[in-house]
Amino acid sequence: MDLKDKVCVVTGAAQGLGRSFVEILLRNGAKVALIDVNKSLGDELKSTLDQEYGRDRTEFYTADVSSEEDFKGVLEKIVGTFGRIDILCNNAGIINEKHWEKTIAINLGGVVRGTYLALEHMKKENSGNGGVIVNISSMAGLGPLPMAPIYTATKHGVVGFSRAMAAVSKLANYGVRINVLCPWFVKTSLLSVMSSEEHIGSFFPLKGIADTMLENHGCLEADVVAKAFLVLVKDESKNGDVLMIDPEGAAFVSFPERGKNMPSTPVSLE
Ligand SMILES: NC(=O)c1ccc[n+]([C@@H]2O[C@H](COP(=O)([O-])OP(=O)(O)OC[C@H]3O[C@@H](n4cnc5c(N)ncnc54)[C@H](O)[C@@H]3O)[C@@H](O)[C@H]2O)c1
Repeated sequence: MDLKDKVCVVTGAAQGLGRSFVEILLRNGAKVALIDVNKSLGDELKSTLDQEYGRDRTEFYTADVSSEEDFKGVLEKIVGTFGRIDILCNNAGIINEKHWEKTIAINLGGVVRGTYLALEHMKKENSGNGGVIVNISSMAGLGPLPMAPIYTATKHGVVGFSRAMAAVSKLANYGVRINVLCPWFVKTSLLSVMSSEEHIGSFFPLKGIADTMLENHGCLEADVVAKAFLVLVKDESKNGDVLMIDPEGAAFVSFPERGKNMPSTPVSLE
């Protein structure tokens, strides 16, 4: 997929991974609508990007992805301004085990809502141009992050939802590919809250686990993760695919399927 003048939407775009995704899209010639709940950081980033890429390449919108009204309204404004949506990255996410309903509403609810709302603008049967949606999960979407069971559940949910929606999109000929990115720990502000009682609540006594995992395996830079994101955007053969990335490298994940990739330890039911 050639990104020149493609219209992209990135949620949670004001900092961290979202910001890296915005920048790699801009460097590849796309226009980007940034969505974030943090208005001051978003405005600040917009003016930095204006200087580097020009004012007409980006727009910043304040919205909370867990609000149907906010998210729907902002996508309508984006289509009003840019004319269409070609690429969506549902990236906004938090870790908060104490306020776990909020974590589910943002991490999983925001991805579901963003995917459904954007498809209305993107799918070919609605006169959209097709395109690609990349949903940001985590290595916690493939295995447990010990002191964050709710975060783990939401990220597993993102993987399952996205794979199922990719199958729907293919069967219904939406013309929209839907893929998932699962990064290991990345140096962002999200990582810094993982040892705070406000965020991990009753699991606070386990806070050392994250530090040990980081000491043993290291941490990714956001710009490296952005390169993996770009693979999922550009490679038109990828739909329903899950790409994991850790400090050792990136690899597509194989899931059990009837007849192949089955778990290797058979169990007798006699
Ligand atoms: N940092 C990591 O180690 C890591 C690893 C794997 C996956 N991820 C995932 O990557 C994504 C981005 O994380 P990050 O590390 O860049 O975090 P971050 O905290 O640096 O940035 C997240 C951004 O999302 C915004 N946001 C939060 N709630 C929002 C909402 N309701 N509506 C709109 N915007 C909202 C925040 O204001 C912030 O700008 C998340 O989904 C996270 O789960 C992060």
